[in-house]
Amino acid sequence: MKSTSEIRAAFLAFFGDRDHQVVASSSLVPADDPTLLFTNAGMVQFKDVFLGAEQRPYRRAVTAQRCVRAGGKHNDLDQVGYTARHHTFFEMLGNFSFGDYFKADAIRYAWELLTAEFGIPAERLWVTVYETDDEAYAVWKDAIGVEPGRIIRVGDKPGGAPYDSDNFWAMGDTGPCGPCTEIFYDHGPGIDGGPPGSPDEDGDRYVEVWNLVFMQYDRAADGSLTPLPAPCVDTGMGLERIAAVLQGTHDNYHTDLFRHLTAAAAELTGAADPDSKSLRVIADHIRACAFLVADGVLPSNEGRGYVLRRIIRRAVRHGFMLGRKEPFFHLMVGPLVEVMGEACPELARQAERVGTVLEEEEIRFARTLDTGMAILEKVMEQAHARRGQIDGKTAFELYDTYGFPLDLTEDIARENGLTVDLAGFEAEMAEQKARGRRSGKFRQRDQISAEAIKALQPTEFTGYAELASEGVRLIGILVDGELVEALEPGQSALLVLDRTPFYAESGGQVGDTGVLRNEEACFRVEDTVKLAAVFHAHVGTLEAGGLAAGDRLDAAVDGERRAAVVRHHSATHLMHKALRDVLGAHVEQRGSLVAPEYLRFDFSHPRQVTGEELREIERQVNRAIRDNPAANAEVMGFEEAMETGAVALFGEKYGDQVRVMRLGDSVELCGGTHVRRVGDIGQFKITGESAIGAGIRRIEAVAGEAAVASMQQTEARLQEVAQVLKVAPDALEARLQQLLERNRALEKEVDAIKSSLASSSTGDLAGQAEEVEGVKVLSCRLDDTDAKALREGVDRLKDRLGSAVVVLAGVESGKVRIAAGVTKDLVSRFRAGELVNFVAQQVGGKGGGRPDFAQAGGTRPEHLDKALSTVSAWVKGKN
Ligand code: ALA
Repeated sequence: MKSTSEIRAAFLAFFGDRDHQVVASSSLVPADDPTLLFTNAGMVQFKDVFLGAEQRPYRRAVTAQRCVRAGGKHNDLDQVGYTARHHTFFEMLGNFSFGDYFKADAIRYAWELLTAEFGIPAERLWVTVYETDDEAYAVWKDAIGVEPGRIIRVGDKPGGAPYDSDNFWAMGDTGPCGPCTEIFYDHGPGIDGGPPGSPDEDGDRYVEVWNLVFMQYDRAADGSLTPLPAPCVDTGMGLERIAAVLQGTHDNYHTDLFRHLTAAAAELTGAADPDSKSLRVIADHIRACAFLVADGVLPSNEGRGYVLRRIIRRAVRHGFMLGRKEPFFHLMVGPLVEVMGEACPELARQAERVGTVLEEEEIRFARTLDTGMAILEKVMEQAHARRGQIDGKTAFELYDTYGFPLDLTEDIARENGLTVDLAGFEAEMAEQKARGRRSGKFRQRDQISAEAIKALQPTEFTGYAELASEGVRLIGILVDGELVEALEPGQSALLVLDRTPFYAESGGQVGDTGVLRNEEACFRVEDTVKLAAVFHAHVGTLEAGGLAAGDRLDAAVDGERRAAVVRHHSATHLMHKALRDVLGAHVEQRGSLVAPEYLRFDFSHPRQVTGEELREIERQVNRAIRDNPAANAEVMGFEEAMETGAVALFGEKYGDQVRVMRLGDSVELCGGTHVRRVGDIGQFKITGESAIGAGIRRIEAVAGEAAVASMQQTEARLQEVAQVLKVAPDALEARLQQLLERNRALEKEVDAIKSSLASSSTGDLAGQAEEVEGVKVLSCRLDDTDAKALREGVDRLKDRLGSAVVVLAGVESGKVRIAAGVTKDLVSRFRAGELVNFVAQQVGGKGGGRPDFAQAGGTRPEHLDKALSTVSAWVKGKN
C-alpha cells in the first residue's frame, strides 16, 4: 500500500518522466491577484501563462499544489466534517500543458497513470464530459475504450448562467476557463450514492478524483468568453481522495495522513470516539491554518486573515465540545510536521512561529468562547421552544462582541437542527457599517470597478529615471471606483495616466505626492496608490480648472519628499542585509514601511534584539554607506536572479522577469526607487526596537536628514538635562548616581526624624491625660504624622499610662488619620473599634480594628478638634 507521500512522489515522477518540468507549490496567498482570495487550484501560479501574458522556459509542468478552499468562489468550509471527502486545505496534483498537448494526450496520460501505474481496475472508473464536447467524448470512447454507459455528458445547471456547469471550470468569476472532463471512482455498492448526473450523485459512492480542464477561454467580467492565445491543459487530482482510493477506503480521514492527525487530536482532547466529527474537523483545520500562517497570513478581522480566524475558531470550538478548554490546537503543528514536513520543508522551518501564532489566537478566543456559548445555548433553547431561528441580532452580537464568526454560529445552529436569520444579521451589519460611514471611518481609496479595469491600460512608470514627465495623457478619472468623464474644481478623484513618474505605494514604499497641471488645471496629488496591481492612481483634489479624460498634463513629483523616501528605502535594504549578517539567516522580512520621515521593518526573530546587536547593525549599515558604491538595478529572469543570491520574499509571487536591486553587498528583488549611490543615504540611526507579534520584531530607523535631526534631538535633550543638573554632559552619569544616593540617604533621615518627633511628643503628652470617672483618658492631635508613627505613639502612651483610653489623630496631606487604643484591663468596658468609629464619623470617615487598638481615616479635617473633644464624653457615657 502506498503512503500519501509516496503517491505524491509517484505522480510527480510519472509526469517528470514525460518531459514535464517539476515546479514547486506556490504560496497559498496568490501574489498580485486581487481577484482571488487563496490559491485554490494548481493552475493559479500559471494563470498569466494561460493568458499569454507570461512566458516560461517550459511548455509542460507538473505540481503538487497546496490549496485552500474556504471563502471565495470555491468554498468547502461548511462541508468539512460532514462528508468523507471535503477539506479546507488539500493538495492538488496537476499536470499542465501550455499550448503543447491537448485533449487526446491529457486523457491518455490520466488513464495510463490511474490504470497502469496505480493499478486501478478500469471498470471502477466513470467519466463525465461537457455536454457539447464531442471531441473529449470520442477520445474516451474510441481511443481509450471506456464503455459508453460510463461516459456521461453534463450540461449547464438548470436555471443557471451559461457555462455554469460541473463540467465547465473557471478559477474565479473572471480569468481562464474551459470545458472539462472528470474521472470518477466507484467505491462499490457498499456505499450510498449514485453515478454522476444521477439524482443521488452527491453520495460517497462515486467520487470525482481527477478533473482535466481544457483551458480555451478568458472570461471577462460581463461573462463573455475570448479564446486564449493557445489552448492549454490544466488538471487537478485531489491527493487525499486518490490516497483513499489506493489505500482501499472511501473515507479520506481513514488514510495514513489523516489517521496520524486524528490520533494526535484524540490524544490532545481526550476524545473517546476516533471517528468523531470534531476530530475530523480539527485534523482538517490544522492543515489549512498551519499552512496559511506559514505563508504569511495572520488572524485578523478582514480578508484572508478573517478566513484564517474563522477556521481556527471553528477548530477551537470543536476541541471545546470534546471537553478540552485549554489551548490545544497549536500542539497539532508537531504531528502535522511529522506527516508533511518532508514534502514541505518551509512548514517544518516555520513550525515554531506557526505554533505561537495559533496559540495566541486560541487564547484570544478562549476569553469569549465560554460566555458566547452560554448566550447561544440560551437563545437556542428559546428558538427550539418556538420552533424559530437564531435571531439576527443575537448572531450579530455574538459576532461583534464575542468573536463568533457567522459561519461558526451557523455551524452550531445546524448541529442543533436550527438555522440563523441571515437577513437579520446582514441588517445589523449594514446598520453598523452605516454608523461607521457616518462617523467617516471608511474611505474607499482602493476601489476600481471591473468595467474600469477593462477600459484602462496599465500605467507605464517613468519614475525610475525622472521626477517630472511632460505631456502625459489622462486616461481615466475614478470617483468611488467608477469612471467619470470630467472633473470640476474642488472635486476629489483618483486619476490614472498613460505614464507617470509618481511611484504608487507598494513593497512598503509610500506613494508619491506632487502636482499634475496644464495651462488651466491644477490637480494636487496627496498620494499615489496601485489599483488591480497595474494602474498608478493619483489620489487628490482638483484645485483649479477643469479636467476631462483624454487631457494632456505635466506631472511633477515632490522631489524633496521622494528623495527622503528613497534614502529610507535604500537604508532598509542595507539594514535587512545587516540584520541577516548580525542575527542570522533566519531573519525574514514580514512587513515594511518606507516613508519620508522614517522606516519601519518587521522581521522574524525569536528574541529581543540586544543593545549591542543594534549598535553592530548600525555600524555595519553606516560602513556600507561610507563605501559608497553605485546603486545598480537590472531586470533579468527569475532563475538567473536567484543565482546572483538575491533575497526574494517568501510567499511573494514574482513574474518571470524580475528587477534585481544591488546596493553594495545587498542584493534584493525590488521594484522600488533607490538612491544613485549608496553614500547618498548619508547617515543611518536606529530609533526603536519592539515586539509586534509572536516571533516578530520591529525596528524603526531614520536616514539622511532625519537621522541627523534625530541625533541632534537626542543630544539637545541630553544638554538640557545636563544644564538642569548643572554639570557637563560627560559627568551626567556620575552626577545622577550621586543624586540618587543622596536621595536615599535623605529618605532614611526623614523617617528617623519623624519617628523620634512622634516619640518625644507622645512623651510629653502622657501628662495631659485627664481622669474621667476614674479612667485615664487622653485625646490629642498630632499633625503630619504617618499611620505607623500614630500607632507607635498610641502603644507607647498605653505603656506609660498603664491603664487608659487613648486617641491620637492628625491631618496629613489633607486627610485625617485616627488611632485609638485601650489597655487590656479596660477592654471589657471600652472597645477601641467602637471609639475610633465614634470619632471618625464626625470627620466623614470610618474604620475598625481590635478591641485594644483600631484606626480610621476621615476626609473632613476641619471637624477634627471638635471630634477629639467628644472623647471624654464618650467614655463617660460608657460608664
Ligand atoms: N483547475 C481544475 C480544478 O481545480 C483542475 O478542478
